Amino acid sequence: MNVLVTGGAGYIGSHTVLELLEGGHQVVVLDNLSNSCLQAVRRVEQLAGRKVRFVEGDVRDAALLAQLFAAEPIDAVLHFAGLKAVGESLDNPLEYYSNNVAGTLTLCQTMAAAGVFRLVFSSSATVYGEPASMPVSEACPTVEPTNPYGRSKLVVEHLLQDLQRSDPRWAIGLLRYFNPIGAHASGLIGEDPLGVPNNLLPYVCQVAIGKLECLWVHGNDYPTVDGTCVRDYIHVVDLATGHLRALEFLCGQPGCHIWNLGTGQGHSVLEVVRAFEQAAGCAAQYQIGPRRAGDIAASWADPNKALRELGWKAERGLGQMLVDAWRWQNQNPQGYR
Ligand code: NAD
Ligand code: WQD
Repeated sequence: MNVLVTGGAGYIGSHTVLELLEGGHQVVVLDNLSNSCLQAVRRVEQLAGRKVRFVEGDVRDAALLAQLFAAEPIDAVLHFAGLKAVGESLDNPLEYYSNNVAGTLTLCQTMAAAGVFRLVFSSSATVYGEPASMPVSEACPTVEPTNPYGRSKLVVEHLLQDLQRSDPRWAIGLLRYFNPIGAHASGLIGEDPLGVPNNLLPYVCQVAIGKLECLWVHGNDYPTVDGTCVRDYIHVVDLATGHLRALEFLCGQPGCHIWNLGTGQGHSVLEVVRAFEQAAGCAAQYQIGPRRAGDIAASWADPNKALRELGWKAERGLGQMLVDAWRWQNQNPQGYR
């Protein structure tokens, strides 16, 4: 297939582009490099031994998109492009609605005009809020998210559901990711956050390598196994292969389909820190701090729908995720820069 990957220079996008190339697909990447760099795409090419057509541009640029669809025989789109920092979205909601919602709208309008109706969208488990029971399945109701980032994801889910209802030619996959971590086993591509990381794993890695002094664990008074929050961490390569399985499914089945991508296993923050120390063979200093506003106690997936319908399940356990994350950090202490 000829696949357009928006946001393909980013963390999850770059790992997925590699899987696509290795699966024999042709790939065009569209990315404005607002949170990534070209080096990621070059490393993917190096790993795959194949070229990627890279277009530097914005998914909100309707003229550029129209040109791209006219020039390339695109069969399907994987849509990763967007902004993802929860805290930043509270300070700058317009940028979040613009990139995440308006960007998707422009993309869908161009796709429809070009007669391309196959789309996979990066959604998030954040749309479930604090679920009443665990594990959380796709049948659980979504809630009003607590921040503009989460709301932008839910708005786009509704937009895509409405779109598919209006025109049955659309085949859309809404992939609700749990907590992606880790890196490709080569250590050549991985997560490269700008500035101080918000997410747990990049923070732990930067403490271990000496860039940050100490991890602040956000609260240890939650009703969980050890008082710290529990999440479903999933290896980014498993997440990437989930996209390929979703694409294959969408070739035969129009509709708007929702799949959780998680492992089905929950781990507390302290379990992750201890497992990291074991995987990396070095200490990660931490202190217990107050709760972080907006955090929920626990969230892990029921991944059975993806297994049943896509034949997909996560293969890599927490130890592998942490070994791979540490290899990436160690080999690239300054990220791609
Ligand atoms: P990322 O920031 O590494 O990748 C996003 C990419 O999109 C970046 O390369 C960025 O430069 C590009 N981009 C942003 N706005 C753009 C625009 N307007 N036009 C063109 N390119 C643009 O993030 P990621 O972790 O790879 O996340 C990919 C997608 O998955 C995002 O939509 C994110 O919201 C979603 N998601 C991520 C997580 C996570 O924890 N990483 C969890 C759930 C969902
Ligand atoms: C994991 C756990 C923190 C940092 C976020 C978004 C979600 C999705 C994934 C995009 C929590 C704790 C963290 C630190 C800590 N993103 N923690 N000290 O919050 O589950 O999900 O990223 O869609 O929408 O909300 O992930 O990695 O930030 O936190 O103690 O310095 O680690 O409190 O319990 P989260 P995270």
